Amino acid sequence: MPEKTYIMVAKTFYGLEDLLVSELKGIGAGNVQKLNRAVRFSGDKKLLYKANYTLRTALKILVPLETYEVRDEKELYACIRGLRWEDYLSLKDTFAIEAVLRSDAFTHSRYVEQKIKDAIADHFRDRYGERPSVDLNDPALRIHANIVNNTLRLSFDSSGDALFKRGYRIGQGAAPLNEVLAAGLIQLTGWDAAGPFVDFMCGSGTLPVEALLLALKIPPGAIRHDYGFRKWRDYDHKLYEQVVSECGGNGRSDIQVYASDISSVAVHTARKNARHAKIEKHINFSVCHFNDFSPPSGRGMVVINPPYGERMKQDNLNALYTGIGNKLKKDFTGYEAWIFSANREALKHVGLHPARRLTLYNGPMECKFQQYLLYEGSRKERKKERIHD
Ligand SMILES: C[S@@+](CC[C@H](N)C(=O)[O-])C[C@H]1O[C@@H](n2cnc3c(N)ncnc32)[C@H](O)[C@@H]1O
Repeated sequence: MPEKTYIMVAKTFYGLEDLLVSELKGIGAGNVQKLNRAVRFSGDKKLLYKANYTLRTALKILVPLETYEVRDEKELYACIRGLRWEDYLSLKDTFAIEAVLRSDAFTHSRYVEQKIKDAIADHFRDRYGERPSVDLNDPALRIHANIVNNTLRLSFDSSGDALFKRGYRIGQGAAPLNEVLAAGLIQLTGWDAAGPFVDFMCGSGTLPVEALLLALKIPPGAIRHDYGFRKWRDYDHKLYEQVVSECGGNGRSDIQVYASDISSVAVHTARKNARHAKIEKHINFSVCHFNDFSPPSGRGMVVINPPYGERMKQDNLNALYTGIGNKLKKDFTGYEAWIFSANREALKHVGLHPARRLTLYNGPMECKFQQYLLYEGSRKERKKERIHD
């Protein structure tokens, strides 16, 4: 029997699509096609498991089932009821539906979810006199319904909980970064783990932890092991174990990661999270104002996510960013620094010319991710280059 080929869609954040494309090519995905906030690809069941277990920049892996044109709720109900649901669900299984709508004809997601649930229930009742139940928290099958105008795309959610839930975060600070976003930011910097990685405003430690998982090649799923596909009827446990055994870490012990914060509570939380991720011993933690942080020498990488200002006056925030710029200029010669922030006004006060400026989103907030080169002589050389241009 030939292996079944799945068409899959990995969802991600705006701005991380290219990284996700390379991650997918790296695990052997076929027909990789970049979409908006998503990437379509194909592969066998092993690749489906591997995508969930290893992709750092994917939020979910959906497996499309059918696409229909539907004008109203009657048509929606009819096409759902007509599907062969017994291929995917037994009477003992549970299911849940999540609808996402961008349509004039369908405007209430709860209502659409209810209609789909009724159609599935009626399909089973007609044939077997009973039906599988709904479980919104821990269903055996999560069904994703996306309606854009009149096009309904039904998919199965193979991830279950979103993939940013890596399983290591047991404590969080006031404004923790999403783990998928943090992993994407680190990959965007191109950090190659040859020099030190520093986050002197580490909060709950998301950036240092994700940096280490990347450098040590520890899969983001190594702690979690809980995925939607593991409750599917066709789940192959041996195959999953094979994926896990093939995707181990690289055992390096020479990677230098430094995490500090002015808040002792934040550093305590970051340490707890790192311990839970089984990488605590690789991180050098300290509690201090960034002005008192002494960076290790070498060509290092700084990645920070300072406060955006929800709880601070703009003037104080501007002063904080000026302080960050001064610290970078004074003590981080030889480094490359990246600052991620939604506060564009404050970013202007860093007082360094960004070599690159990327746009990303943190939830609905537009953010800038700015690169500053602090290499010795880099400014003079750039000036010279400009004169010769
Ligand atoms: C937006 S949070 C960082 C969140 C972090 N990336 C995470 O994922 O949890 C900003 C952090 O900057 C820290 N901070 C603010 N002022 C600081 C200073 N002067 N020196 C060091 N850290 C500071 C705060 O305590 C807070 O933890």
